[in-house]
Amino acid sequence: TSYQTIEVEHRGAVGVVTLSRPDALNALNTQLMGEVTAAVSELDQDGQIGCIVLTGSRKAFAAGADIKEMQSLSYMDAYSSDWFAAWDRLTAVRKPLIAAVSGYALGGGCELAMLCDLIIAADNAKFGQPEIKLGVIPGIGGTQRLTRAVGKAKAMEMCLTGRMMDATEAERSGLVARVVPVDLLTEEALETASAIAGMSTPVAMMVKESVDRAHETTLSEGVRFERRVFHATFATDDQKEGMAAFVDKRVPSFTDR
Ligand code: HXC
Repeated sequence: TSYQTIEVEHRGAVGVVTLSRPDALNALNTQLMGEVTAAVSELDQDGQIGCIVLTGSRKAFAAGADIKEMQSLSYMDAYSSDWFAAWDRLTAVRKPLIAAVSGYALGGGCELAMLCDLIIAADNAKFGQPEIKLGVIPGIGGTQRLTRAVGKAKAMEMCLTGRMMDATEAERSGLVARVVPVDLLTEEALETASAIAGMSTPVAMMVKESVDRAHETTLSEGVRFERRVFHATFATDDQKEGMAAFVDKRVPSFTDR
């Protein structure tokens, strides 16, 4: 498939999707939304792929939804087309999805990073929800996912003032898993993604599904869900392989797909 606003690469068992609208700091227009969701879904279906990385440029992961495209929308345009709802397709992705963020992750860009399962940030990363300065509010989950990630106080302040968080604050606040020097971002993200892709793919999917439950249910139901999935791992060949490899003091070779 040929795309205009993204690049897609296979790096071994890792699929890498790079946002590429350099003239607009990777602003998320309709075409880019369609291309990202299509490419990520395709990688999700690909039996050779065990983990997906979503990244941008050095200056910007994405500077938000495309303001020039949205500017003259009417309420009926926004409502009828269910503007931005297509991004929800990313929540159906079952393989681990890593956001590797360098530079600006603002508005829809911050929301896109938060739609991923974990964020690795370069030390120059800046996260923010500046929608209020444009007279709108976040529309791809920002008020919800940021609040869950960093708590009410910071989320409220960021959404009300548009203040950006730098990488250090983002790590301290629990928004990002790890901060790395900007020159090492791609390497570090690929290393983490390859490590995940080297695990049992179905078991990694079960981990993702179980962790995600934590935000969707009560503690006792979440633990019950986890217990059932834990039991289910014993139905995989990979559980037998993983435990046999430990006992034999060798590196496991996982084969379930
Ligand atoms: C469209 C954008 C854009 C955006 C940048 N550009 N962000 N175009 N939509 N979100 C374009 C600029 O117009 C400019 O094009 C080019 O990219 C380079 O940007 P500059 O502003 O010249 O760069 P710089 O001075 O370095 O400033 C970087 C920046 C600034 C601080 C990130 O671009 C900025 O504030 N952007 C908007 C951030 C924002 O408000 N995002 C939230 C959007 S709303 P030209 O043609 O002039 O060179 C959103 C949520 C939607 O995401 C949900 C509500 C429904």
